[in-house]
Amino acid sequence: MTDDALTPDQIQQIRDRVAELMPQVRADLEELVRIPSVSASSFDQSQVARSAEAVAELLRREGLDVEVVVEGGRPAVIGHLDGPAGAPTVTLYAHHDVQPPGDDADWDSSPFEPVERDGRLYGRGAADDKAGVMAHVAALRAHAGNLPVGVTVFVEGEEESGSPSLGTILEKHGDRLAADAIVIADSGNWDIGTPALTTTLRGGIRVVVRVQTLDHSVHSGMFGGAAPDATTALVRLLASLHDADGNVAVAGLDAGEAADIDYDEQRFRAESGLLDDVSLIGSGSILSRLWNKPSITTIGIDATSIDKASNTLSAKAAAKISVRLAPTQDPLVAFDRVREHLEANAPWGARLTVELEEHGSGFAADANGPVYDEARASFADAWGTDPVDMGVGGSIPFISDFSARFPDASIIVTGVEDPDTRAHGANESLHLGEFEKVCVAEAVFLARLGALRPAR
Ligand code: BES
Ligand code: MN
Repeated sequence: MTDDALTPDQIQQIRDRVAELMPQVRADLEELVRIPSVSASSFDQSQVARSAEAVAELLRREGLDVEVVVEGGRPAVIGHLDGPAGAPTVTLYAHHDVQPPGDDADWDSSPFEPVERDGRLYGRGAADDKAGVMAHVAALRAHAGNLPVGVTVFVEGEEESGSPSLGTILEKHGDRLAADAIVIADSGNWDIGTPALTTTLRGGIRVVVRVQTLDHSVHSGMFGGAAPDATTALVRLLASLHDADGNVAVAGLDAGEAADIDYDEQRFRAESGLLDDVSLIGSGSILSRLWNKPSITTIGIDATSIDKASNTLSAKAAAKISVRLAPTQDPLVAFDRVREHLEANAPWGARLTVELEEHGSGFAADANGPVYDEARASFADAWGTDPVDMGVGGSIPFISDFSARFPDASIIVTGVEDPDTRAHGANESLHLGEFEKVCVAEAVFLARLGALRPAR
C-alpha cells in the first residue's frame, strides 16, 4: 500500500471538529448509561433491547443502514455506510450490554444516573463499553458527509455474558463484518496521558470442582478425627493450586514474558488496592504475571455458611475457579492439565468431579503492517505521545473467532479504560479528557486509512 499522509492542518481540523462534537457525544453517552442494559439473565432483558434500539437510532442518524439482529442471544446492532470507491473498509466493534451494578450501597452515586466528579463520568457502562460505542459514533460524526473509508459498526449485546450467540451471528451475518481493519474498542490505555494498543489478551477457563468424602454428613464429635470433612478436603485441594510463593503449581501450562515496560510494585499496589502488609504472589516481572503467565482465582465456594454451621462433618463441598491463560495457550489443553492436577491432588482419596464451565481463547496480535502503522500514528496525533504496546490480563474471547474468520484483516484492540476505571466494579468511571483523545484518535485513524491506497 502507499501512504498519502495527512497534513498537520488536516489533523488539527479533526481535533477541532471533535472538540465541537464532544458535548453532544457526552449527552448521548449519558442517555445510553441511563439504560440498565445488563445482559445477565437474572436482569430485565427489555432494557438490553432498549439499548440496542438506542444504539441503532444513533447509527441511523449518521446515515448508516442499520439492522438489529437476534440469533438466540441478546440483540446486536449492525450498521453499514459505504466509503469512496476503492477505499479500505473498517469494522468498528463495541458492546452495549453491561455488567450487573452489584450492591448500590458500594456506589457513591446511583449506577445508572451518570454524574461527573473531578473530570470523570461515573456510571455502570460509562466506560465499559458505552464509551466505546460513542467513540465510534464520534468518529463517524467527525467525518459526516465525507466518510474517508467504508464503515461497518458492530455493537454486540452479550459480551459481558461471554458472547454465547456470537458464533451464530458470525455464521449468518459474518460477510457483512469483513473488512481490511477491525477496531475492537473494549480495552484501554496504559495511563492517563499515555495511549496504548492492546496487543495481547489472556485466555481463560472456568472450572467447577466438587468434592465428596462421606455418604452423608455426620456428627463431628462422633466421627471427627478419623473421617475427613469435604470442606477441609476442598480447601486443601485449592491450596495445592499454588506453591508457597503463589506461583501456579499446575504442571504443563504455557507461560511467557512481557516486554520490558516500566511498571513498579508501588504502582501495582496503588492500582490494585493491595493492603500494605500483604505481599504480591508469583515470580518474574509483575507485567509477565498479569499478562503472560497463568493465574488461578477461587471465585466461589459452596460450603455450609457460618450462619448455618453446626457440629457436623460436611459430606460435600464445591468451588468455582477461574484460570487465566497465557495469550497463545489452547484453553482445552489447559483444562486437561488443571483436571489432571486436581485429580492427582485430591486429599485423602476424596471423590472429585471436575467440570469445564466456560472456555475462551486469548489473543496475540500480529501488530505490524500498514494498518498498525496508521493506528500508531493516529494515537500519536491525538495524545502527542507515541502509544505503547501493552498486554491485558483480561479476556475478549471472540477476538480469536474474528481472527480465524477474517485472517487477512488487521485487528486493532483499543479502548477508553484507564487504571482507575474500575470496570465491573462499583464507581465505574470514564476519564473525560482521555475520552476526547480516544475519539480524536479514531477519527484520525479513519482519515489516515482513507489516505492509504493499495499499491498498483
Ligand atoms: N473489557 C473486558 C476485557 C478487558 C479486561 C480489557 C481488562 C482490558 C482490561 C471484557 O469485557 C471482559 O470483562 N471480559 C471477561 C471475559 C468474558 C468471557 C466475560 C473477563 O476478562 O473476565
Ligand atoms: Mn467488560
